[in-house]
Amino acid sequence: MAKSRSTFICQNCGAVSNRWQGRCDACGDWNSIVEEAPASGVGGPARSGRGKPFELEGLAGETRPAPRMVTGIAEFDRVTGGGFVPGSVILLGGEPGIGKSTLLIQACAALARRGERVVYISGEEAVAQVRLRAMRLELTKAPVELAAATQVEDILATCSAGKRPALIIIDSIQTMHTDAAESAPGTVTQVRASAQALLRFAKTSGASIILVGHVTKDGQVAGPRVVEHMVDAVLSFEGDGAHHFRMLRASKNRFGATGEIGVFEMTGLGLAEVTNPSALFLAGRDAAAPGAAVFAGMEGQRPMLVEIQALVAPTSLGTPRRAVVGFDQNRLSMIIAVLEAHGGLKLGMHDIYLNVAGGLRADEPAADLAAAAALVSSLSGATLPAERVWFGEIGLSGAVRPVIHAGARLKEAGKLGFRSASLPQTQQLNDEDAGAGVAPRLLADVGGLVAEIARMSGGGRRDGAAPKDRS
Ligand code: TYD
Ligand code: MG
Repeated sequence: MAKSRSTFICQNCGAVSNRWQGRCDACGDWNSIVEEAPASGVGGPARSGRGKPFELEGLAGETRPAPRMVTGIAEFDRVTGGGFVPGSVILLGGEPGIGKSTLLIQACAALARRGERVVYISGEEAVAQVRLRAMRLELTKAPVELAAATQVEDILATCSAGKRPALIIIDSIQTMHTDAAESAPGTVTQVRASAQALLRFAKTSGASIILVGHVTKDGQVAGPRVVEHMVDAVLSFEGDGAHHFRMLRASKNRFGATGEIGVFEMTGLGLAEVTNPSALFLAGRDAAAPGAAVFAGMEGQRPMLVEIQALVAPTSLGTPRRAVVGFDQNRLSMIIAVLEAHGGLKLGMHDIYLNVAGGLRADEPAADLAAAAALVSSLSGATLPAERVWFGEIGLSGAVRPVIHAGARLKEAGKLGFRSASLPQTQQLNDEDAGAGVAPRLLADVGGLVAEIARMSGGGRRDGAAPKDRS
């Protein structure tokens, strides 16, 4: 019999080729192709013989929605869509050290205290390490069952014995291996086969399983990209290592809305819920300094106010610097170009820095107006009103265009004590929006923005800030 040849599988996207290459043809990732044994496919050999017919059913039938398991950590429950659905599998992705294990041990303890059987399997840390963390978090009294294991069949045998676990944590899926596949642990084939075995167990036993997945620098769940299609929900845990707050986001959820986010703060006692994130992000704001505008943004379905800071200063270099933190570089370039072309500003000889305070990202187009206001304010030295928020998209023609969720943005601003909002003239507002106690200041285009900020500075403008005579 001819010796079967090995296959080469991209560890990023799972594409199969029959020779090694430096770069995957399918996803373009470099150095991601690994040789794997030929018979390591999922599911083993094909079944011989003919299939058995099964009964098909109608859409209407006897199915009651299963009760959800609520952890009591409100920010977590919100993202899962109101608690874990029995028999569901959730993939939780995040960069190393962001706090995935901390969040999950806290959720486990909360659920275990409610009398559910909870099993925490760590493939990365020894039992002693997990215990130490639990001790630091003062959770040692919660009846969580703990083990350090990586063999999927052993894990499932352990979980099948005794009372059905309500929740099983697998930390992480990349460390698991199963007998169903022959490749090394961590390879796509192993990850996929392990996830499939766990998924099958969840569906048959009714236990909920959370798989932890590591994420690469560009935010993709490394290896288990393929797993994302199999699981019921994909959550990602994000945050800036230099800041305390963390955000839990659902990018896929078969049992709830995506776009829900949960906000946490990393403290000495683990992750604490942040119920009013806007207040956190605006804390310590220096409202009297020019170059700062409060953006009324949205994170999914949730309004969130953040401060956008700009610094515009004459350059000492041949090519001026343009640097951003938490903002898209291309959008900044576009805003600068529009301010020059339609606002009459001269920014060619200025270094420009733009920062979103608190380590947050402002990726929405609606942030354009706040960014532009911060830029003009910094250039002219005029302080923007402390009780004003800004939102609106800027088009290449210089027009300020309407955005979605204006009502929610205004309501959040009103709740935090803001009294006026600069927003697009074409924005449709209903009576309820007007009731938020925030006076709308309508802007038609960037020319209007520059003129308004020039009025605020009371004529004491620095060089370059003078709006062009538009008559
Ligand atoms: P961890 O949950 O181990 O991250 P992950 O599982 O995502 O890799 O959390 C690691 C970081 O969290 C670590 O750098 C220290 C910090 N941390 C705190 O600040 N406070 C705490 O109470 C705990 C447990 C961790
Ligand atoms: Mg961990």
